[in-house]
Amino acid sequence: MGRVTASAPGKCILFGEHAVVYGEPAVAVAIEQRISVTLESVKAGETPWKIGGMHFDAKKHPHVQALRNRLWQTSQNAPGLTIQVTGDIPPASGLGSSAALSVAASAALRCARGRWYTSTDDLQNPQTWAEGYASTLEQNDVYTAENREISARQTGSPMSHYVVGKEVASLDESALLGHAVEAVAQGGRASPMDASTCSHGGAVLLSDAIESDVDYLYTRQLTMEDGERTWHLHSVNLPHSTEGLYLVIGNTGVYAPTSNQVAKVAAAIEAKPGRIKEIQTIGMIARRGIQSLKDGDFEAVGRAMSENQIMLQGLGVSCPELETLIRAAAPTSLGAKLTGAGGGGCMVALTRHPKQTSEAIELAGGRTLISRFGNAGLTIDVCENMPLWDTAQ
Ligand code: PMV
Repeated sequence: MGRVTASAPGKCILFGEHAVVYGEPAVAVAIEQRISVTLESVKAGETPWKIGGMHFDAKKHPHVQALRNRLWQTSQNAPGLTIQVTGDIPPASGLGSSAALSVAASAALRCARGRWYTSTDDLQNPQTWAEGYASTLEQNDVYTAENREISARQTGSPMSHYVVGKEVASLDESALLGHAVEAVAQGGRASPMDASTCSHGGAVLLSDAIESDVDYLYTRQLTMEDGERTWHLHSVNLPHSTEGLYLVIGNTGVYAPTSNQVAKVAAAIEAKPGRIKEIQTIGMIARRGIQSLKDGDFEAVGRAMSENQIMLQGLGVSCPELETLIRAAAPTSLGAKLTGAGGGGCMVALTRHPKQTSEAIELAGGRTLISRFGNAGLTIDVCENMPLWDTAQ
């Protein structure tokens, strides 16, 4: 029987949350904690889709359902699947668990389905795909929930090669699909930061401009209720060793939906338009922090994180629980701030003393995760007897 397992990391934001909504740059890094998705075909006579041993309930799994609409259409005679999801990223805490799930599931589904190519010279080059999704092809339709036929889109060249195996999964397609299904699951609103960081790994910079001195990846667009949004994504190479440096993430356990926090900042700026200066200051701090990251000056990275926190506090998106954990981490770390939307959720400290920092955060009431830098993005961990759904027949 065929089996495929794909996994993707969670993420935390080092600089620029909230300001990124207004076009300023933000940087997210992949963390060590991951989500794994395993797919197997169901035995003859079993119910078509199972997840975690239960009947698949589309309402409980909106991300998987959105992917199913795009890559695995039962109307096209796709066979049933059993899906297992495991991992150590806490859900709904701003650490990208839903993006990691979406990215890993889209890659696993792609492997399980195989892919048509016009040329097999360079399997990672979107121009040679005869079907599938890529940033360099027209991509608007990838965000549409209704159109179920488009995953079989052809570029116009004859479809000559059907390829199976782990090479058919691509970071670009998984990031694109991950973003698309996050947008569907979140009612049409999602930045590509989570999906791109979970897919590419390392450190990802998102901005409203193409930035210099970093590797440009691609540009994404999404039509939201209030207009078209465009983001430019880049991969930041950390040229200096991050040996001995750790991120300690402290979870307050307080639930605060991102949309409420984003609305809070929007209301504050609407009430006092001059406060946009605070957003611009976060942008300046983020740019300085990014430069320090590239210079390998981690003392300066830590200082920029703490300055970023002061601005976020001023904007009203911190909370007493976050402040308590940040204060507890401060004596043993280079810098600390909330990560993500704030109001609850998680903080992150940059430290050379992970054990002490973690213990201090735990004593102050937080639950901690420890991560190094430079973590891998999407990986295909098992790929046996592919495809599960042979579209070559
Ligand atoms: O809490 P998270 O990880 O979903 O991050 C939210 C980041 C914001 O900048 C507050 C919102 C956004 O869309 O970028």
